[in-house]
Amino acid sequence: MNIKDLYIDFFIKKGHKQIPSAPLVPENDPSVLFNTAGMQPLIPYLMGEIHPSGDRLCDYQKCIRLTDLEEIGDTTHHTFFEMLGNWSLGSYFKKESIQYSFEFLTSVLNIPVKRLAVTVFKGNDTIPMDEESASVWSLLGIPKERIAYLGMEHNFWKAGETGPCGSDTEIFYWRSDEPVPTVFDPEDDRWVEIWNNVFMEYDRKSDGSISFLPKKNVDTGMGYERIVSVLEGVNDNYKSSLWKDIINLIEEIANITYQENEISMRIIADHIRTAVFIASDPAGIVPSNTDQGYILRRLIRRAIRHAKKLNIEIESNWEEKIASKIISKYENYYPELNEKKEIVLNILKEEKKKFNRTLEKGLKEFEKMASKKNDIDGYTAFHLYDTYGFPIELTQELAKERNMKVDEKGFQEKMKEHQEKSRTAAAGKFKGGLAGNGEMEIKYHTTTHLLNAALKAVLGQDTHQRGSNITAERIRFDFNCDHKLTEEEKEKIESLVNSWIQEGLDVTKEEMTKQKALEIGAEAMFIEKYPDLVNVYFIGNVSKEICGGPHVKNTNELGKFKIKKEEASSAGIRRIKAVLE
Ligand code: ALA
Repeated sequence: MNIKDLYIDFFIKKGHKQIPSAPLVPENDPSVLFNTAGMQPLIPYLMGEIHPSGDRLCDYQKCIRLTDLEEIGDTTHHTFFEMLGNWSLGSYFKKESIQYSFEFLTSVLNIPVKRLAVTVFKGNDTIPMDEESASVWSLLGIPKERIAYLGMEHNFWKAGETGPCGSDTEIFYWRSDEPVPTVFDPEDDRWVEIWNNVFMEYDRKSDGSISFLPKKNVDTGMGYERIVSVLEGVNDNYKSSLWKDIINLIEEIANITYQENEISMRIIADHIRTAVFIASDPAGIVPSNTDQGYILRRLIRRAIRHAKKLNIEIESNWEEKIASKIISKYENYYPELNEKKEIVLNILKEEKKKFNRTLEKGLKEFEKMASKKNDIDGYTAFHLYDTYGFPIELTQELAKERNMKVDEKGFQEKMKEHQEKSRTAAAGKFKGGLAGNGEMEIKYHTTTHLLNAALKAVLGQDTHQRGSNITAERIRFDFNCDHKLTEEEKEKIESLVNSWIQEGLDVTKEEMTKQKALEIGAEAMFIEKYPDLVNVYFIGNVSKEICGGPHVKNTNELGKFKIKKEEASSAGIRRIKAVLE
């Protein structure tokens, strides 16, 4: 039986309810592009909301982590992965959580106790050492030498700078043919972490202080790829049963062996898989130059670049073969893959065509530059990379044919500058949460603030934004409300927004501390996720919101506001789709 099924079965027997994997693109949290951990969709419940499925939950969750996108290609990192998780929302705590993990690993997966070691939190000035976890581990048979006590940087887990957090205990497995050492050395990377049990009992505020959450929760996470490789005894994830047939297929298509170009094959396998999952997510992401769409574009293009390296015939349907294989491997667990198969394959194919056209243009650009210069300087090489997707190797190859040199160092410097810039931009997005920056998007963004204010005026001051998504075509806005809006309420909201538009209210911005913003009653959806210094946007005296902008200067730029649709989004959350006409 598959480990995912074993895991879910085990926790159901222990009184847990299975919850479905949430979409990769968070529905009500614009501060992150993708779910990065199983607990992300559960944050409101860890903070105290009642979960409709009860206080013991388990699932496998689709996750994407992009922190080291350029580093994918080693044996253990993937952009997409599945996280197995079980949660206690105020039900059990340390003892049962550790017992469950131990029982699952040793009795269900039959991992010998002698290959296991654990870390526990050693405590700091404010939080005591986690003696309880250590003693549970001892009672279960983990010897003292195999329990390491580590500090905040290792054994304290938080999803973001603020919000639910707590000390954790991590379980390690000895992944090596060498004899298992008596004493556990967490620095020795033959010990690989397989499971993390976080005891979420604190809420971290932006000033760094922590207070107790309403309940003591448990949040656990076990990387599926990792545990599969461990059990199958392979040191390279791509040699496990999860990847082997995909790698074999790539070998067949490229007509070379995995050993001949491991890195390119891993990148192709990893990126196509992630692209398939992004493209089939309910959010309907397509390749673009912003946000999730940009990530999708980069993944597909990078896979194509590496396919070129392997001399794969790009015009052939290689990407379709790989994607189809991935879909058939995962469709039992994620039915959306099959439901959206045509769409996914089409996205890959169209993006391939677009990229090829760009590359052709790039070749012409290269010829033009090459005719004017003796060598290719770093700036030019970077321009070819950035604008035409030319990998440095391609530029070098073309340069070599013409007896020209490429300033690779200069290129790397430009590249580094660029990466720093995009990192800053990503951080900015984290603060602001706004999608595109086109003229229409900016107008819609300002309109969103007006809508938020109108909802409050019509439905009550407790009405708050719970999510939003803006495209050049429309606003999608989620808010808490316990009933379907009546025609009368919708009309009131519309006419209020339109009256503010007609009044020609100025939109102004003021920088202030987060504390001050809260004091003046500025709206903020994810207050804990904003930096200490924030921008507050004022629209006349009808709206004040913490926001990264940008906005129009005056509401008279906006046009006529119209609600197109009002529907349920999830329990207690309504969704409005609206346009400017
Ligand atoms: N949320 C914890 C993690 O991602 C379990 O490691």
